[in-house]
Amino acid sequence: MELQTTTYKGRHVALLERAAALVTRPDGRGLCIMEAGPGLAVKYLGRMARVGSPVRPVAKGIETVVRRLPLPDAWLENYETVEIIAAFGPRTAVTVVDINPRTVGILGRRFASRGVTGIRADLASAAFLETPGLAAPFDVAIALSTLGRIPPHRQAAAAGNLAAAVAPGGLVLEDMIDMTAHGPLEAIGAGIYRRLP
Ligand SMILES: C[S@@+](CC[C@H](N)C(=O)[O-])C[C@H]1O[C@@H](n2cnc3c(N)ncnc32)[C@H](O)[C@@H]1O
Repeated sequence: MELQTTTYKGRHVALLERAAALVTRPDGRGLCIMEAGPGLAVKYLGRMARVGSPVRPVAKGIETVVRRLPLPDAWLENYETVEIIAAFGPRTAVTVVDINPRTVGILGRRFASRGVTGIRADLASAAFLETPGLAAPFDVAIALSTLGRIPPHRQAAAAGNLAAAVAPGGLVLEDMIDMTAHGPLEAIGAGIYRRLP
């Protein structure tokens, strides 16, 4: 469990909706999306910490303290995974990867009926793409506010894995670095890249 706040409601919805409008939809099947680093917030506090909430600073401060407690799983909630499904459509299959086994366990169990699979993996690992169950390449690979939580000397490896996890023509969403230095990608919008053929 990270001690600082990790996510809040609606954080990247505008970016997700912009990307969903640009994605090329495969014929006859739903999109396959990899989400690296979904994060978990303390129940209700992550909703109160959304941008524009009048109690955002207070909610973030309280959450920073409360998440140090040994909270049961039921007290933790996720927003980004369901926001991805809402943006890209209900037939979307999301593979959630996170270095934190508790995060992927909670999301895999909670959203299994909505096409979500949880896999514990280190995005910066040299063996990331060989992680059992990781069915790369994906139509879209997403790592939002995640690379910044990886030590600087490992960020290039993580960015390379993110670029390699998406099929040619697919999209990469990353909001912290210039991804064109880390794979055959062209920037097509702020935080949005397309994998070149
Ligand atoms: C700041 S949270 C971002 C949450 C969410 N994506 C958002 O934007 O609100 C960072 C997430 O990255 C995960 N993470 C950190 N290092 C990682 C790594 N090496 N591989 C995979 N996930 C990692 C954390 O466990 C956490 O879920």
